Amino acid sequence: MLNKNNIPRHIAIIMDGNGRWAKERGFSRIIGHRQGAKRLKEIVQSASETGIEVVTFFAFSAENWNRPKQEINLLMRYLSNFLDKEIRQFDKNNIRFLAIGRKAPLPEPILEKISMAEEKTKNNKGLTVVLALNYGARQEIVDAAKRFANSVVSGKVNEDSLDIEGFGRYLYTANLPDPDLLIRTSGEMRLSNFLLWQLSYAELYFVKKYWPDFTHQDFKEAILEYQKRERRFGGISEA
Ligand code: FPP
Repeated sequence: MLNKNNIPRHIAIIMDGNGRWAKERGFSRIIGHRQGAKRLKEIVQSASETGIEVVTFFAFSAENWNRPKQEINLLMRYLSNFLDKEIRQFDKNNIRFLAIGRKAPLPEPILEKISMAEEKTKNNKGLTVVLALNYGARQEIVDAAKRFANSVVSGKVNEDSLDIEGFGRYLYTANLPDPDLLIRTSGEMRLSNFLLWQLSYAELYFVKKYWPDFTHQDFKEAILEYQKRERRFGGISEA
């Protein structure tokens, strides 16, 4: 049973292994993404029911543009369908939607749907679902540094006023708590340029299953494992 007093506020997820899942079954990679999109919806429901505040999914990295054009186009189509269909459901379930990442070169119709989805759900007070799209953590940190430098040049702030918390407000994730738990599926054990700043003190959880096989139960097990960990944030154990 989950300890209701120790639920992670923010869970970040790297949904890895869609391609391998499909290949092992003799399907094209895109079938893996389609199944992956179904899992994403299920995990949103689990997160909402568990009382998590924020769940962030790595849906498309800044490096994913290097994939074959056909795969990119189909991923964009899934994303577009997702924004058309799921947002209404999110809104009914009091879920707020946000996207993080660089806008260019995402297609204009997708950017419009993202803005509409964010606007429609902005006052919802339940779970916040964040999609990282065209996202790269190093790019995010560079963008934040530029925005801060602009504020200094325009005289709005003084460079000496910058501290760690203040810098966080220049990131795409401003106003969101840092993730407490990172889940990565498919057995790969790396961060792949995902939320490098925000994951500084997160608990890392790697699971062998491919994302299209990741279920409610697997999600619960990740939280149970999190609840066994002792988080010290650089301090020492109290016992
Ligand atoms: C990683 O698997 C997954 C991605 C790069 C894309 C994730 C996308 C989805 C789950 C579906 C689309 C999302 C929405 C919101 C509709 P991989 O392709 O790198 O797998 P591999 O490592 O086995 O090749």
